[in-house]
Amino acid sequence: MNELQILYEQCLTCTRCPLSGSRTNIVFGQGNPGSHVLFVGEAPGEKEDLCGQPFVGRAGMLLTKVMEQVGLDRQDVYITNILKCRPPQNRDPNREEEQACLPYLLEQIRLVRPVLTVCLGRIAASRLIRPDFRIMKEHGIMFETSFGPAMAILHPAAVLRNIRQMDLFVADMNQIARIVKGSEG
Ligand code: URA
Repeated sequence: MNELQILYEQCLTCTRCPLSGSRTNIVFGQGNPGSHVLFVGEAPGEKEDLCGQPFVGRAGMLLTKVMEQVGLDRQDVYITNILKCRPPQNRDPNREEEQACLPYLLEQIRLVRPVLTVCLGRIAASRLIRPDFRIMKEHGIMFETSFGPAMAILHPAAVLRNIRQMDLFVADMNQIARIVKGSEG
Protein backbone atom coordinates (compact mmCIF):
# COMPACT_ATOMS: atom_id res chain seq x y z
CA MET A 1 0.00 0.00 0.00
CA ASN A 2 1.40 3.43 -0.89
CA GLU A 3 1.38 6.43 1.44
CA LEU A 4 -1.66 8.03 -0.19
CA GLN A 5 -3.64 4.80 0.26
CA ILE A 6 -2.55 4.62 3.90
CA LEU A 7 -3.78 8.19 4.41
CA TYR A 8 -7.08 7.27 2.73
CA GLU A 9 -7.51 4.29 5.06
CA GLN A 10 -6.91 6.58 8.05
CA CYS A 11 -9.40 9.11 6.72
CA LEU A 12 -12.10 6.44 6.30
CA THR A 13 -12.50 6.12 10.06
CA CYS A 14 -11.94 9.81 10.86
CA THR A 15 -13.97 11.29 13.72
CA ARG A 16 -11.98 14.54 14.12
CA CYS A 17 -15.07 16.73 13.68
CA PRO A 18 -18.86 16.39 14.02
CA LEU A 19 -19.34 15.96 10.24
CA SER A 20 -18.23 12.36 10.71
CA GLY A 21 -21.63 11.75 12.32
CA SER A 22 -23.67 12.88 9.33
CA ARG A 23 -21.62 11.71 6.34
CA THR A 24 -22.64 8.87 4.06
CA ASN A 25 -19.14 8.56 2.59
CA ILE A 26 -15.76 10.17 2.95
CA VAL A 27 -14.79 12.00 -0.24
CA PHE A 28 -11.03 11.68 -0.04
CA GLY A 29 -9.89 12.53 -3.56
CA GLN A 30 -9.72 11.09 -7.05
CA GLY A 31 -7.36 10.90 -9.98
CA ASN A 32 -3.73 10.41 -10.76
CA PRO A 33 -1.51 10.55 -7.64
CA GLY A 34 1.44 11.38 -9.94
CA SER A 35 -0.37 14.36 -11.46
CA HIS A 36 1.42 17.69 -11.93
CA VAL A 37 -1.74 19.55 -10.98
CA LEU A 38 -3.96 19.17 -7.92
CA PHE A 39 -7.41 20.79 -7.83
CA VAL A 40 -8.98 21.70 -4.47
CA GLY A 41 -12.69 22.42 -4.10
CA GLU A 42 -14.63 23.39 -1.03
CA ALA A 43 -16.47 20.36 0.30
CA PRO A 44 -18.52 17.44 -0.98
CA GLY A 45 -22.15 18.13 -1.92
CA GLU A 46 -25.05 15.71 -1.81
CA LYS A 47 -24.05 13.63 -4.86
CA GLU A 48 -20.41 13.47 -3.76
CA ASP A 49 -21.43 12.34 -0.27
CA LEU A 50 -23.57 9.59 -1.79
CA CYS A 51 -20.94 8.19 -4.11
CA GLY A 52 -17.68 9.06 -2.32
CA GLN A 53 -16.07 10.90 -5.27
CA PRO A 54 -15.40 14.64 -5.71
CA PHE A 55 -17.15 16.82 -8.27
CA VAL A 56 -19.69 14.35 -9.66
CA GLY A 57 -22.72 16.72 -9.73
CA ARG A 58 -23.55 19.58 -12.10
CA ALA A 59 -20.49 21.64 -11.10
CA GLY A 60 -18.33 18.55 -11.61
CA MET A 61 -19.75 17.96 -15.07
CA LEU A 62 -18.84 21.52 -16.05
CA LEU A 63 -15.37 21.13 -14.54
CA THR A 64 -14.79 17.89 -16.49
CA LYS A 65 -16.10 19.42 -19.73
CA VAL A 66 -13.88 22.51 -19.54
CA MET A 67 -10.86 20.39 -18.63
CA GLU A 68 -11.47 18.31 -21.74
CA GLN A 69 -11.93 21.45 -23.82
CA VAL A 70 -8.38 22.61 -22.95
CA GLY A 71 -6.84 19.14 -23.34
CA LEU A 72 -6.69 18.06 -19.71
CA ASP A 73 -7.93 14.54 -18.97
CA ARG A 74 -9.85 14.39 -15.68
CA GLN A 75 -8.36 10.94 -14.99
CA ASP A 76 -4.87 12.44 -15.29
CA VAL A 77 -5.28 15.19 -12.68
CA TYR A 78 -5.86 14.87 -8.94
CA ILE A 79 -9.03 16.37 -7.44
CA THR A 80 -9.94 16.81 -3.78
CA ASN A 81 -11.60 19.27 -1.39
CA ILE A 82 -10.79 21.30 1.72
CA LEU A 83 -13.29 19.12 3.63
CA LYS A 84 -13.61 15.40 3.10
CA CYS A 85 -17.15 15.22 4.55
CA ARG A 86 -20.31 17.05 3.47
CA PRO A 87 -21.46 19.98 5.62
CA PRO A 88 -25.24 19.91 6.23
CA GLN A 89 -27.25 21.85 3.62
CA ASN A 90 -23.94 22.51 1.82
CA ARG A 91 -23.12 25.42 4.13
CA ASP A 92 -19.58 26.85 4.13
CA PRO A 93 -16.98 24.86 6.09
CA ASN A 94 -16.46 26.24 9.61
CA ARG A 95 -13.16 26.73 11.39
CA GLU A 96 -13.37 23.61 13.53
CA GLU A 97 -14.06 21.44 10.47
CA GLU A 98 -11.26 23.05 8.49
CA GLN A 99 -8.72 22.70 11.23
CA ALA A 100 -9.63 19.06 11.69
CA CYS A 101 -9.50 18.29 7.98
CA LEU A 102 -6.66 20.45 6.67
CA PRO A 103 -3.88 18.03 7.71
CA TYR A 104 -5.30 15.45 5.25
CA LEU A 105 -5.13 17.97 2.40
CA LEU A 106 -1.62 19.14 3.27
CA GLU A 107 -0.47 15.54 3.35
CA GLN A 108 -2.13 14.87 -0.02
CA ILE A 109 -0.29 17.87 -1.49
CA ARG A 110 2.99 16.64 0.04
CA LEU A 111 2.51 13.16 -1.44
CA VAL A 112 1.26 14.18 -4.91
CA ARG A 113 3.85 16.99 -5.16
CA PRO A 114 2.00 18.95 -7.87
CA VAL A 115 3.80 21.69 -9.78
CA LEU A 116 0.58 23.67 -9.33
CA THR A 117 -2.26 23.56 -6.79
CA VAL A 118 -5.48 25.03 -8.17
CA CYS A 119 -8.07 26.36 -5.72
CA LEU A 120 -11.59 26.12 -7.09
CA GLY A 121 -13.37 29.20 -5.80
CA ARG A 122 -13.01 31.76 -3.04
CA ILE A 123 -13.38 29.41 -0.08
CA ALA A 124 -10.48 27.15 -1.10
CA ALA A 125 -8.37 30.18 -2.07
CA SER A 126 -9.01 31.95 1.22
CA ARG A 127 -7.94 28.86 3.16
CA LEU A 128 -4.91 27.97 1.04
CA ILE A 129 -3.60 31.23 -0.41
CA ARG A 130 -4.67 34.21 1.74
CA PRO A 131 -7.62 34.79 4.11
CA ASP A 132 -8.80 37.94 2.32
CA PHE A 133 -8.39 36.47 -1.17
CA ARG A 134 -10.46 38.38 -3.78
CA ILE A 135 -11.53 35.79 -6.30
CA MET A 136 -12.78 38.16 -9.01
CA LYS A 137 -9.55 40.20 -8.90
CA GLU A 138 -6.99 37.52 -8.22
CA HIS A 139 -8.14 34.45 -10.14
CA GLY A 140 -5.62 33.23 -12.69
CA ILE A 141 -2.64 34.73 -10.83
CA MET A 142 0.17 32.52 -9.55
CA PHE A 143 1.01 32.74 -5.83
CA GLU A 144 3.90 31.21 -3.92
CA THR A 145 2.68 29.42 -0.78
CA SER A 146 4.29 27.29 1.91
CA PHE A 147 3.26 24.18 -0.07
CA GLY A 148 4.36 25.45 -3.50
CA PRO A 149 2.85 27.42 -6.39
CA ALA A 150 -0.91 27.92 -6.22
CA MET A 151 -3.57 29.65 -8.29
CA ALA A 152 -7.29 30.13 -7.86
CA ILE A 153 -9.94 29.97 -10.53
CA LEU A 154 -13.69 30.51 -10.28
CA HIS A 155 -15.71 27.71 -8.74
CA PRO A 156 -17.62 25.85 -11.49
CA ALA A 157 -20.82 26.16 -9.41
CA ALA A 158 -20.39 29.97 -9.50
CA VAL A 159 -19.95 29.78 -13.27
CA LEU A 160 -23.20 27.79 -13.53
CA ARG A 161 -24.95 30.54 -11.55
CA ASN A 162 -23.47 33.28 -13.74
CA ILE A 163 -22.78 31.89 -17.17
CA ARG A 164 -21.16 35.18 -18.27
CA GLN A 165 -18.15 34.08 -16.22
CA MET A 166 -17.58 31.10 -18.50
CA ASP A 167 -14.94 32.87 -20.61
CA LEU A 168 -12.84 33.70 -17.52
CA PHE A 169 -13.13 30.11 -16.32
CA VAL A 170 -12.05 28.68 -19.69
CA ALA A 171 -9.17 31.19 -20.02
CA ASP A 172 -7.82 30.25 -16.57
CA MET A 173 -8.17 26.54 -17.35
CA ASN A 174 -6.24 27.09 -20.59
CA GLN A 175 -3.46 28.72 -18.62
CA ILE A 176 -3.41 25.75 -16.23
CA ALA A 177 -3.20 23.31 -19.16
CA ARG A 178 -0.25 25.25 -20.59
CA ILE A 179 1.59 25.21 -17.23
CA VAL A 180 0.96 21.49 -16.76
CA LYS A 181 2.03 20.58 -20.29
CA GLY A 182 5.10 22.82 -19.99
CA SER A 183 6.09 21.04 -16.78
CA GLU A 184 5.81 17.62 -18.42
CA GLY A 185 8.67 18.55 -20.72
N1 URA B 1 -18.30 21.45 -4.94
C1 URA B 1 -17.11 21.32 -4.33
O1 URA B 1 -16.50 22.30 -3.90
N2 URA B 1 -16.59 20.10 -4.22
C2 URA B 1 -17.20 18.99 -4.71
O2 URA B 1 -16.65 17.91 -4.57
C3 URA B 1 -18.44 19.16 -5.32
C4 URA B 1 -18.97 20.39 -5.44
